[in-house]
Amino acid sequence: MKKAFVRSYGCQMNAYDAARMADVLGQEGYAATDSVEEADIVVLNTCHIREKAAEKVYSELGRLRVLKGERKLAGQDTRIVVAGCVAQAEGSEILARAPAVDVVVGPQSYHRLPELLARSRETRVVDTEFPVEDKFDHLPARRNKGVSAFLTVQEGCDKFCAFCVVPYTRGAEVSRSVAAVTAEAAKLAEAGVREITLIGQNVNAYHGEGLDGGSAGLADLTRAVAAIPGIGRIRYTTSHPNDMGEDLIRAHAEIPALMPYLHLPVQSGSDRVLQAMNRKHTGEQYRRLIERIRAARPDIALSSDFIVGFPGETEAEFEDTMRLVADIGFQSAFSFKYSPRPGTPAADREDAVPESVKSERLAALQALLDRQRHAYQNAAVGSLTEVLVEKVGRHPGQVAGKTPHLLAVQFEAPASSIGRFVAVRIVEAGANSLFGEAVPRAEAA
Ligand code: SAH
Ligand code: SF4
Ligand code: F3S
Repeated sequence: MKKAFVRSYGCQMNAYDAARMADVLGQEGYAATDSVEEADIVVLNTCHIREKAAEKVYSELGRLRVLKGERKLAGQDTRIVVAGCVAQAEGSEILARAPAVDVVVGPQSYHRLPELLARSRETRVVDTEFPVEDKFDHLPARRNKGVSAFLTVQEGCDKFCAFCVVPYTRGAEVSRSVAAVTAEAAKLAEAGVREITLIGQNVNAYHGEGLDGGSAGLADLTRAVAAIPGIGRIRYTTSHPNDMGEDLIRAHAEIPALMPYLHLPVQSGSDRVLQAMNRKHTGEQYRRLIERIRAARPDIALSSDFIVGFPGETEAEFEDTMRLVADIGFQSAFSFKYSPRPGTPAADREDAVPESVKSERLAALQALLDRQRHAYQNAAVGSLTEVLVEKVGRHPGQVAGKTPHLLAVQFEAPASSIGRFVAVRIVEAGANSLFGEAVPRAEAA
């Protein structure tokens, strides 16, 4: 049997797309493999968000060129596909820079992979169109499912933050219909999926066609997915503060399956920087929003994204970010040094922050965020929680899963508990995971 190696370099949507490309290749008779050496097709699903992510692809392609040459000497053909956001942004430049590449395909046209691969026998192929047909209508059924699954409900972005490539690589905001999303979710549930994360670049801007033909928001969609038998947990990501409507906040109080965890990127705590970033809200507005969310769901765990060293960011403005973090308290967060991206408005600015200053600020911010993460984990020790078991644990006899607040937990239980909700007492906090003990149901009640 022929084999395909598909690797994701980006966000959750990039990982979802990678899984769907594996489905497409599966339908064409390619078995999935984790070993690039034995692959007849190699797909790199690339990310363009920061320079480092984009450059990683070219070093990988250098290695693949050697591998392709070796396999050729052994009489084996290797097709190399560059997909994802670098493919969309750079198109045929990739062919010029990386001679081993056979196909370049953007995030909106990967359902055409079989046709593109066939054409690549004659000539190298680039498809970075935003086709009129909907890729979701042309993708085969999902294969690789597990206990928790991502489900794309919205794609693209109309916000144009000054630093960000996503509106260019993913295109304008598009939402799938409630019927399409619930059909995919129901199939996942039948196959044993218990937790679904609804994903979108701006997932809370979701506005799809509702079951009644009207317009549905993310709160409506969440209710529809929560009604599917077997789905015990729902999460969504990534949200924008300006799309956090009253109905969605209320959904956190009203829908038991909607988990008490929210990733809500703020990027900066400085009003001037936020304005320069085109985020269209102030630090104060973000704080008020968090208050309203906490009033609806007091135990909600918060997470965020931060950029340090945006052009022109002063020391005092960075301190505003530190203060916002200290005041709000995050369970986890991602933080990055600003990376100028070609084609974005901020890339043309001449007031760049020196690399050494960016590094210092990032280290200070990450130290604060790490302290908050550890404090959150330590505070969980002694609590009784419910774990959705996802897989076997690192040690024999153990399984691993997540709490409603998205904390990873390991505990002793048979592998047959995978896919079940188990009451667990947290007994210890490790560096990246909690350790617990299963509690008999009667005792937990
Ligand atoms: N749609 C989401 C974020 C998508 S990108 C939102 O609006 O928040 C994920 C994160 O990458 C962003 O939140 C931002 O923190 C970071 N990011 C995006 N562009 C970046 C850049 N040019 N340099 C550094 N970090 C960046
Ligand atoms: Fe990028 Fe801003 Fe859109 Fe998020 S909201 S994807 S950061 S442009
Ligand atoms: Fe990267 Fe594209 Fe996602 S740029 S973060 S893979 S939307």
